[in-house]
Amino acid sequence: MKKPASLLGNKNKFLILGCGFSGSFFAKTIKKYGCTVFTSSRSIKRDPNSFVFNSENGEVPDAKIFDGVTHILSCIPPDKNGNDPVLESLENKLQNLSLEWVGYLSTTGVYGNTEGGWVSEIDQPNPFQKRSQNRLNCEKRWIESGLPVQIFRLPGIYGPGRSTFEAIKNKKIRVISKKNQVFSRVHVADITNAIIYLLQNKSSLKFYQIINIADDEPCSQLEVMQYCYNLIGSKMPKPILFKDVKEELSPIAQSFWMENRRVSNKLLCETLGYKLIFKNYKIGLKNCYLNT
Ligand SMILES: NC(=O)c1ccc[n+]([C@@H]2O[C@H](COP(=O)([O-])OP(=O)(O)OC[C@H]3O[C@@H](n4cnc5c(N)ncnc54)[C@H](OP(=O)(O)O)[C@@H]3O)[C@@H](O)[C@H]2O)c1
Repeated sequence: MKKPASLLGNKNKFLILGCGFSGSFFAKTIKKYGCTVFTSSRSIKRDPNSFVFNSENGEVPDAKIFDGVTHILSCIPPDKNGNDPVLESLENKLQNLSLEWVGYLSTTGVYGNTEGGWVSEIDQPNPFQKRSQNRLNCEKRWIESGLPVQIFRLPGIYGPGRSTFEAIKNKKIRVISKKNQVFSRVHVADITNAIIYLLQNKSSLKFYQIINIADDEPCSQLEVMQYCYNLIGSKMPKPILFKDVKEELSPIAQSFWMENRRVSNKLLCETLGYKLIFKNYKIGLKNCYLNT
């Protein structure tokens, strides 16, 4: 990664709201730049820099957590009513801060189904699933808030500890084949590093409010599974046709197979000049294999 620049340092205080898989990777990395980092979860953690925020039961952070905050990253999905948990519970507090930047992790689900076609930030979102409609509404709410927000649309997130390897090990995945079906994905390290790159170069880069972070090579789930089985040295089970297994899948699993799109990273990687660490699933999964 690029040597830390003075733009990110001990003058910055980050709140990471929803410190799950992506949030904790980001928090761990940004601390190395000397930034002060406080992270939220819904239950009490031992870490003294962790605090409780749970929109479901109205547990909001103590006012002193917000003192001197310069940057916020929200990694929290819409709640069960489709509302944004952060804006529903904390918007007034955020409006009273002198924030330099707010990041919101969204999903490429807002683009809907393009039958395998490429989608970019200039395409009109066309959410197909109810949860993606909710997500688009949350994006709109963030934009309307007038906060200095940047929205990152993400495809399937994977990384050490959460990848096809764990799914194979826990027998949580079936080898399914669906003709011409592709998925886009991104390694968790590229989410973090792309955001840090944009923050470090904020003064010289044009500000885009919506940015996709995805790798270069959308591909079928079958290819990914074959690669994982080869790496672990096991024989991949014979693929089952999607049409033969569809009814046995959970509604959420079914819904993933109903959408087929390729997510373009041209804005991030060409226009804005970010260099991916993990350009495709092969190098990304090798990293997971070696780090779990
Ligand atoms: N996973 C994917 O493949 C994927 C793909 C595209 C987009 N996304 C989106 O990108 C974001 C980050 O994804 P991720 O997989 O890193 O998330 P994650 O690991 O599931 O973490 C979500 C975080 O949100 C917190 N949270 C959930 N509901 C909350 C509420 N009502 N009030 C307060 N906190 C709440 C969770 O708290 P606890 O720590 O207490 O659980 C957790 O820290 C999410 O919005 C996700 O929907 C995910």
